[in-house]
Amino acid sequence: MSSAIYVAFDGRSQDEWYSAFRKLAPGRDLRFWPNEIGDPADIGYACVMKAPHGAFKSMPNLKAILNIGAGADYLLADPDLPDVPVARGVYDDLTMRMTEYVVLHALLFHRRLPVYLAQQRDRLWRSYLQPSAADVTVGVMGMGAIGTDTAEVLGRIGFQVVGWSRGPKTVPGVEMFHGEAGLDAFLGRTEILAVLLPHTPETDGILNLGLFRKLKRDGALGAAYLINAGRGRLHVEADVIAALDEGSLEGATLDVFPIEPLPAGSPLWAHPKVIVTPHNAGDLTPEQLIPALLEQIDRVARGEALRNLIDRQRGY
Ligand code: NDP
Ligand code: OXD
Repeated sequence: MSSAIYVAFDGRSQDEWYSAFRKLAPGRDLRFWPNEIGDPADIGYACVMKAPHGAFKSMPNLKAILNIGAGADYLLADPDLPDVPVARGVYDDLTMRMTEYVVLHALLFHRRLPVYLAQQRDRLWRSYLQPSAADVTVGVMGMGAIGTDTAEVLGRIGFQVVGWSRGPKTVPGVEMFHGEAGLDAFLGRTEILAVLLPHTPETDGILNLGLFRKLKRDGALGAAYLINAGRGRLHVEADVIAALDEGSLEGATLDVFPIEPLPAGSPLWAHPKVIVTPHNAGDLTPEQLIPALLEQIDRVARGEALRNLIDRQRGY
């Protein structure tokens, strides 16, 4: 019986995760990467966050792989990923944090906070015409677990919301567009573009200069803004900067980057129209997530299907 759980968390909070697993999974046979793996043939399940590629090769009895985070692009890029079901993380807490992040930055651009913060530094008292949220359209690119929640909250605080997904979809209160064919119409309606897409071969580099130029700049805000909280490889850094410099974009919030941490030499750090956050739009808290991971493992052990399965062909 191979029922040991391989836990591999490569990141700053590895110690916190490993001790939470020990505390919350008593009686389970836990095998921690890199030093406590034991006999890989004992391993039946894997819970991974940026696990080293190639590790699964030596686990002949693996039954399922659980990607701890929501985006499984790094895991799916493992050339030795075995042919077992792979699921990803979908958690209310993560969704809420992501929604908070997008709403925070949408409001920040809508209420011109960067302008007022700059004025405060100069002791300048100047007020600008403030459009109503009802006259401003936020476009959510990626209408999955996170995007639909974000869209709903944006709508509740008054914005017009349009959404873009891969396939056709109906979301109450949101005008939906899908696929290549719907992209230009979606962009033509969007003043604040909130990106919650996964990184796949289809979405790689999708946020480029050509796309930014199609955003709506003659709406109530008189400008277009970008919020990318999906993945860094969705945007082309040089194109974000070019769009800001030519005015296709008036501001950009970026939580994710093609190379993380963002290299010290990146011009994004000092760009006056860019807000950089260190890939923490959503955070994954072990106390909340480990019970959900164990429940997934128990489902497989009972012969039930995993929830939140990844379609490996689609890439998300
Ligand atoms: P889901 O898989 O639930 O949703 C993905 C959405 O993207 C779906 O609506 C899907 O369309 C759409 N999509 C995928 N490919 C395409 C495409 N080629 N064209 C158009 N639409 C496409 O993912 P989540 O909502 O759970 O998460 C989204 C992403 O957010 C994650 O993959 C991750 O990269 C990122 N993330 C970032 C975090 C951070 O801290 N910055 C934290 C958590 C997640 P359809 O509905 O038709 O399938
Ligand atoms: C995730 C992330 O995908 O934190 O969950 O980026």
